[in-house]
Amino acid sequence: QQADIGLIGLGVMGANLALNIAENGYRVAVFNRTVAKIHEFYEEAGSLKNQIIPCETLEDLAKNIRAPRPIILMVKAGEAVDEQIAALKPFLAKEDIIIDAGNANFHDTVRRLAELGPNDPTFVGMGVSGGEEGARHGPSIMVGGTPESYARIEPVLTAISAKYEGESCSALLGPDGAGHFVKTIHNGIEYADMQMIAEVYGVLRDGLGLTPEAIGRIFETWNAGPLNSYLIEITAKVLLATDKKTGKPAVDVILDSAGQKGTGRWAAIEAQMLGIPATGIEAAVAARSISSLVTERSEASKAYGDLATARLLDGGQAFINALEEGLLAGKIAAYAQGFDVMAGASKEHGWNIPLATTARIWRAGCIIRSQFLDQIAAAFEGSEGKNLLLAPAFVERMKTGSQSLRKVVAEAALAGLPTPALAAALGYFDSFRQARGTANLIQAQRDFFGAHGFKRIGEEGDFHGPWTEAN
Ligand code: 6PG
Repeated sequence: QQADIGLIGLGVMGANLALNIAENGYRVAVFNRTVAKIHEFYEEAGSLKNQIIPCETLEDLAKNIRAPRPIILMVKAGEAVDEQIAALKPFLAKEDIIIDAGNANFHDTVRRLAELGPNDPTFVGMGVSGGEEGARHGPSIMVGGTPESYARIEPVLTAISAKYEGESCSALLGPDGAGHFVKTIHNGIEYADMQMIAEVYGVLRDGLGLTPEAIGRIFETWNAGPLNSYLIEITAKVLLATDKKTGKPAVDVILDSAGQKGTGRWAAIEAQMLGIPATGIEAAVAARSISSLVTERSEASKAYGDLATARLLDGGQAFINALEEGLLAGKIAAYAQGFDVMAGASKEHGWNIPLATTARIWRAGCIIRSQFLDQIAAAFEGSEGKNLLLAPAFVERMKTGSQSLRKVVAEAALAGLPTPALAAALGYFDSFRQARGTANLIQAQRDFFGAHGFKRIGEEGDFHGPWTEAN
């Protein structure tokens, strides 16, 4: 019996996705460039073996899938995807669908689609989130493609996807690059979420002098409240874990230098290109870059002495509560930005990304999954494209939440503790809610040095100022 679907690339994500497909009753033909891995995977598949067809060549893979063939690529984003498509094409027909499930840059997805000839298979760009566990037991799936191609792969995607109260976390979000774009923004928000959590950890550790265990307990408590989310849950677990080698808290033996594979940076770049503020994401990307300056930071910490721990903060319950509420407020602002970037890109590329649906398929399976996304989905229901900070439910929350965020950022700043993403979120919120900002001065400066002109309040036309260098 032929397979229903093919999968290329048996790395951790690919292997788990293949097992997930098999477990859901679909037959899957698998291929990997290093052939040994195919057999290793097959041998370890246990009772799912009879749902898996190991193939040693691409020709074999194509033969073993029932036409029209859907084939998922789960290879390293970048050139490997182009190579795989080129190698695979000779064995495929026009009706087949190649589905790139990696963390592709959406520009590449758009290009790959454009490069296909009239007799080439269809190409679908699909964002998959959820890490190893998600891939194995239900990821969030963000698809970019035509309704026709989605209709053909929808049953298997729905089956393998995460479910939120029974609802599938897989959806078609628009044509061509839309799925990979949404995944990129998901990762940007993921960066912002993680960074804001890390900043709060920093305040608790360096400002309040708490142990990892004590901080872990606080996060555990928060996970039972409005911050309830996968990232808060794993943060508590991480903080409570012990290093086997030394018996110390695991976080205390880890170097404070974070890597990045690129998607968070792409989110910030795309926001900049669209002219849409995404300061929470930008701050998070920059914070990872600063974290990698290990030598310079060590030198600077000597040059500036103990400025960074100038004073210990009041660790009373009121401040802990402010941290909880402030983190939530920062999160709201960062998500508002992320969704705004998607709305902007959607308009720019004519994608029509459904924002409420996007929030809905992020409620389970993906790394930023949370109940909070259910509230975001509800806010976008009927008011698509409007900034989340203007949704009535969020206005109410931010009225009180922003006060806590303000307290946290202010106290941290006075204690010399960095909160770049939280501060960026607050700065964004305060600028966004200012009917009269300060760009009048920017316009005057631009007019002064470059005769750029400006608009007058309540008058049509372009004007110039009375400035002279002599003034
Ligand atoms: C997910 C994750 C996953 C991965 C990213 C981010 O949604 O499952 O986002 O895709 O963790 O590649 O990785 P970096 O932190 O290395 O950029």
